[in-house]
This record gives sequence, structure tokens and C-alpha cells, in this order.
Amino acid sequence: MRKQEASMAVNVKGLEDNARKTSIETLNARVSDSIALGLAVKQAHWNMKGPNFIAVHEFLDAVYARVLAHTDVMAERVQILDGRAMGTAEVVKDSTTLKPYPTDVTKVQDHLKELCDRIRDHGEKVRKAIDSTDDSGDADTADLLTGVSRELDKDLWFLESHLE
Ligand SMILES: [Fe+2]
Repeated sequence: MRKQEASMAVNVKGLEDNARKTSIETLNARVSDSIALGLAVKQAHWNMKGPNFIAVHEFLDAVYARVLAHTDVMAERVQILDGRAMGTAEVVKDSTTLKPYPTDVTKVQDHLKELCDRIRDHGEKVRKAIDSTDDSGDADTADLLTGVSRELDKDLWFLESHLE
């Protein structure tokens, strides 16, 4: 207990306990959805068929890499705050707020619509997370989430631009 308190003092100097707890909870919720989103992107990458296949297929790997990077920085911020990053398949299955990704979709356009729905949903929740972490006093987590939000917005724009 004493060791934990000492490490908390080092890691989160000046940060109220309430702010720390809000950030850990908020970040872990976004980690779950970010992992689920990454898996959805790969599911689309593998299964899509139709016009623009190669362009979209390749672009989705770039989206996946960004989503993976978001997951990583959010999970590591949980650890910096002396929380416990939660990213197992079991935890994600129980806690993701994203709609289950359909496994019977094949057309490129249908996959794009499904992905855009989920990126928009996740993006809106990241924006709420920026506000809640900022309001509780953790400007650094709010800043980290702002970067995630900006990249999600850009990928949503790219993917939506492929929709007819
Ligand atoms: Fe691939």
C-alpha cells in the first residue's frame, strides 16, 4: 500500500484523486471501444469485395495502425495514472459500447457504412471523454484524447468520402 502511494505521488503529482479515477474509468471505456473498432476495421479489410477494393483494403490497414496507436496511448495513460489497463478479449466483449460488427457483409460500400457508423459513435464518445476529463482537472488526458479525436475525425472524412 505504501509503495503504491509513493508511486502515485510520483506519477500523478498535483492531480486530484477524483480526476485520476475519472480519467482511468473514462480511458478504459475508450480502450475497449478502440480495440473493438480495430477488430471491425480488420474484419472489413479481410472480407470486402467490389469496386475500389485495393484502395480501400490498403487504406484500412493505415486506419487500423492509427486505431492501434490510439489504444496504446490511452492504455498507457491508464498505467501512468496508476490504474489498470483493461484490454483482454473477455473485458472488451463485456464492456464495449460499439454495436457488434456484422459477419455477413461483403460489399465495399456496406463495410464502409458499417465502419463509418462505428468511428462516428466512438468519436462522439471520445469527445465527451475530452470534456469529462478536462472538467475533472486532468488536462493531460483531455489533450491526449483530443489528439485521438482529431485523427478519428480525419479517418471518418476519408472513409465517408468513398461513400456514394
Ligand atoms: Fe492485410
